[in-house]
Amino acid sequence: MNFHIITIFPEALESYFDSSILKRAQKNKFIKIKFYNPRDYAKDKHKVMDDKPFGGGPGMVFKAEPMIKVIVSAISNSKFLISKQIPKSKFQKIKVIFLTPSGKQFNQRMARNFAKKYDNLVLVSGHYEGIDARVEKVIKNLKFKIENLSVGPYVLTGGELPAGIVVDAVSRHIPGVLGKKESLEEKRGVGIPTYTRPEVFEYGGKKYRAPKILLSGHHKKIEEWRKKHAK
Ligand code: ADE
Repeated sequence: MNFHIITIFPEALESYFDSSILKRAQKNKFIKIKFYNPRDYAKDKHKVMDDKPFGGGPGMVFKAEPMIKVIVSAISNSKFLISKQIPKSKFQKIKVIFLTPSGKQFNQRMARNFAKKYDNLVLVSGHYEGIDARVEKVIKNLKFKIENLSVGPYVLTGGELPAGIVVDAVSRHIPGVLGKKESLEEKRGVGIPTYTRPEVFEYGGKKYRAPKILLSGHHKKIEEWRKKHAK
C-alpha cells in the first residue's frame, strides 16, 4: 500500500511513522509513505497557498489551484511508488480521502476494506478553515473515488493526526505488517486484560494478583477466559 499524505506540516507525523511497527513495515516494503507539501505547488514566489474566505469570516482557506496540483501530483506518483504488494503491471486502485470533522466517521471495517480494495490512498489534511470547495469537485470530475472522513466527533486543529490514524489503522490490515508477536484483534477480540510478572504485585500495602487461570498452562481454559473477557 502506498500512502500519499498531503500536508503543510509533514514534521507533525514523521517521527510517528519512523517508529515501531510502521517503521518496520516501510523498511520491509509492505507500505510506502510519501509526503507532499501544497506550498511547493503555489504559484507565487512567497509560496502563498491560502487566502481569506469569500463572504468574510475568520481564518484562511486553502486555495484551489495548489491543492488540485498537489493532489494530481500524488495521484500520478501512484504508478511509480511500488511496494511489495503491487506489481508494476497492475492497475493502480486509488482513493482520495479528505480528512474533515464533517466527514463520515472512520472505523475498523473501513480500515480493513481500504487495505483490501486499494493500493494507493491519497490523504488530504485540511487546516485553518478548510479547503476551497471546488477542489473536491475537480478531483471528482477527474473520476477518482473520493471520501470525506472524520476520525471522531470532535474538532482538531488540523488533519495531520487524522491522516496518521488512517495510515496506522489501514496498515495493520496489510498482510506482513503485523509480526508474529502482534495480532489482529479480529482473531482474539479487543480489551482483553493482560498481565505479566510478578504474579502478585504489591502497592500501598495491598496485593494485586494476576488471574490464576493465566498461569495454569491450560491453553483451552486460557482461551475461554480470554474470550469471556474480550470486548
Ligand atoms: N480535522 C479536524 N478535526 C478532524 C476530525 N475529527 N477528523 C478528521 N479531520 C479533522
